[in-house]
Amino acid sequence: MSRSGKVAVIGAGFYGSTTALRLAEYDIFETVVLTDVLDGKAEGLALDMNQSRWIEGFETKIVGQTTGIDGTGYEAIAGSEIVIITAGMPRKPGMSRMDLIETNAKIMRGVAENIAKYAPNCVIINVANPLDEMTALAQIVSEFPYNRVIGQAGMLDTARFSHFVAEELQVPVSSVTTLTLGSHGDTMVPVASACSVDGKPLSEILSQEKIDELVERTRNGGAEIVALLKTGSAYYAPSAAAARMARAVHEDSGKVMPVCAWVDGEYGLSGAYLGVEAEIGNTGIKKVVETPLTDSEKALLAEAYVAVKAKQADVQAL
Ligand code: LAC
Repeated sequence: MSRSGKVAVIGAGFYGSTTALRLAEYDIFETVVLTDVLDGKAEGLALDMNQSRWIEGFETKIVGQTTGIDGTGYEAIAGSEIVIITAGMPRKPGMSRMDLIETNAKIMRGVAENIAKYAPNCVIINVANPLDEMTALAQIVSEFPYNRVIGQAGMLDTARFSHFVAEELQVPVSSVTTLTLGSHGDTMVPVASACSVDGKPLSEILSQEKIDELVERTRNGGAEIVALLKTGSAYYAPSAAAARMARAVHEDSGKVMPVCAWVDGEYGLSGAYLGVEAEIGNTGIKKVVETPLTDSEKALLAEAYVAVKAKQADVQAL
């Protein structure tokens, strides 16, 4: 097994720490750096994770680092090829992701400035909410080219949709293909026309009513978990998505994934971060892929674009 490179995860909450451990367990990186503003938290978690190496059989080292509001400690991320931003507040029951915008924008500004300073050549993967807006802000503050700033959401929403379909039909989740585009929020676009089970279109297997029900549950997938947990939000499926994206960047795999990417004319839409399918590699977004959509799905995607574009314009002032 050859290991190389360094990946950093900003924020050692459940999302960040689970992502760091997944990345370490891939055993493909030399180093995984985990940072947090809470004194000693990242160091403690890193020590704990490192002690699991002998049991789980991986050699990647995890480095924990406390960072200050003034940027102290950020030198630990120097030379990272990928930086995953998980720093920010999660939702409380009853909150929408958009309710987090002001608090998380302040956190994002500080984080993105330090990433630009210490890891100027990295690919940023943002997972902080509201996702599309915070991804846009990470790009604005870091001043990185658009392709090097990506948001994680489509992989997660698609995974949730696939899980619901598999449960409904009692089939292996591996036989299910689904897709969600648009925003990671109210204007999420679960693309029913791209969904199939063992190659058979979903519309031939489930009634429209049932598909609509699963689509709605997917749209509320995060909120359903927030309501059950009562404090904090989901992290197992979200971290799996973020870690797989980082792996695709590291391996320069060119894998096509639903992600939050800058659109520049695709689907006739330009100048915003939006959930689309894209090829992921060592430059971040290699290419946005235009998935064939029905007219109504195109209309929903355009609606999502209008909504996220307006909010992304507001975010500059925060
Ligand atoms: C969710 C949060 C992480 O969808 O956005 O669970």
